[in-house]
Amino acid sequence: MSDLQPPINSKLSKRAPQPPGLPLVGHLFALQRKGQFQYNLDNWQQYGDIVRLQLGPFVVHILAHPAHIRHVLIDNRQNYGRGRGYQVLKLLTGEGLLTSEGDFWKRQRRLIQPPFTPKVVPQYGPEISKTITAFLARWDDAAIRGTTIDGQTEMLKLTLQILGKTMFNLDLAAQAADLTEAFTTAVAIVGDRITAGMDLPRWAPTPANLRLKRALRTLDTRIYALIEERQRQPEDHTDLLAQLLNARDPETGKSMDLHQVRDEVMTIFFAGHETTAQTLTWVWLLLAQHPAVAAHLQAELTAVLGGRAPQVEDLPQLPYTSRILHETMRLYPAVWAIPRGANGPDEIGGYHIPAGSMVFPMPYNAHRHPDFWENPTAFQPERWTSARVAQLPDCAYLPFGDGPRACIGRHYALQEALLVIATIAQRYQLQLVAGQTITPHSSITLAPKDGVRFQIKPRMPG
Ligand code: HEM
Repeated sequence: MSDLQPPINSKLSKRAPQPPGLPLVGHLFALQRKGQFQYNLDNWQQYGDIVRLQLGPFVVHILAHPAHIRHVLIDNRQNYGRGRGYQVLKLLTGEGLLTSEGDFWKRQRRLIQPPFTPKVVPQYGPEISKTITAFLARWDDAAIRGTTIDGQTEMLKLTLQILGKTMFNLDLAAQAADLTEAFTTAVAIVGDRITAGMDLPRWAPTPANLRLKRALRTLDTRIYALIEERQRQPEDHTDLLAQLLNARDPETGKSMDLHQVRDEVMTIFFAGHETTAQTLTWVWLLLAQHPAVAAHLQAELTAVLGGRAPQVEDLPQLPYTSRILHETMRLYPAVWAIPRGANGPDEIGGYHIPAGSMVFPMPYNAHRHPDFWENPTAFQPERWTSARVAQLPDCAYLPFGDGPRACIGRHYALQEALLVIATIAQRYQLQLVAGQTITPHSSITLAPKDGVRFQIKPRMPG
């Protein structure tokens, strides 16, 4: 592996090392055969911090070193646009905040920012706690009947409901199953298109295209109904939807058109529930696999909460809970790669980056970089001391990205995840159902393939 600060402006611009590939498809089949994570880890071990891949017609550089990632996301960010991955994501989120660029993105970001600032986010605490408690009534039944649950589906439903309530004043309890299914289908198909080594035709009536169309119809119907309902009764609302509908262009005074409102609502739903849900699923898996960590967590929850439901004000008193969350996001960052497209030629670590190619800053690899993490593959929440965190260079830990395009929902996500962990862990033990093979799967987010089944054991009556 390279030194702490590898040379970025070397005069010697040469082609980055690459594994042997096949004509035409390049490394596509090898990547599909081994899986995204294993393939990239193996290449990193063998070829170093920058690896060049040819995925069908696309040239991609995989970046593992924090200094190289910083170069792309911060120092030379003018040279890097959203690239092909985000182009394909537009199938789902249109021209929303995740995919838009330039002045238009800047204006939308300013407009959407207010409900996500650290000052406003704690106001969602009581609504989040209420939604979690209502959601868990079903778990009490499952615990009594001894049935098992799929942790991933449950977390997707829960985070969707929390988001609906806090951002759009919507009670989604009755629709959570349908909407989660539609999202899961759309995300899986769009994810497959992103990782495919070619741009598949969108018009062809293939089974995947038809399923995507159906899923999008379900989601769009609900989102447009929500917008229309609100337009009929706009009074008394101060949530994100109200802000989107009331926003006026500072130059023209025009309001956002309906498609744009749809794209922003879809973006917030997608970016704001799937990521947190996958993170929480990994938390439950890791806790089930590490009883000593789970016991330490119980001790903290008992000492601080003594059996009462956690509130936002309790979170600063739960440092170990927070360490568990950070350590989980280190090992399993929901956004495992932060793709960008090079507008012009560049040089990273002495290697040539051609104009029009893609670069993949990889949080998954950076979070396991042995120059910055001791015993990198071990789950050790204890490593998150403030002294240790202060030593980390920029972009050594970036579950929420970095630079101007870093996650707008970061504070919201941390608060929500901590409340979910503290509430659930205090009330239930989640035991892994035996005989499951859990494999990390790289769709748009990093998720356990086929979910994770748990048996729920209540810890306290009621
Ligand atoms: C654990 C949970 C989350 C993780 C790991 C996560 C991760 C990320 C990352 C890495 C990015 C940067 C992507 C890039 O630079 O290409 C991002 C952007 C974004 N995230 Fe999150 N996110 C989470 C939760 C949320 C939540 C709760 C919301 C909203 C409610 C949200 C909304 C967004 C939006 C809108 C963007 C695009 C920002 C922009 O480009 O201006 N995220 N997220």
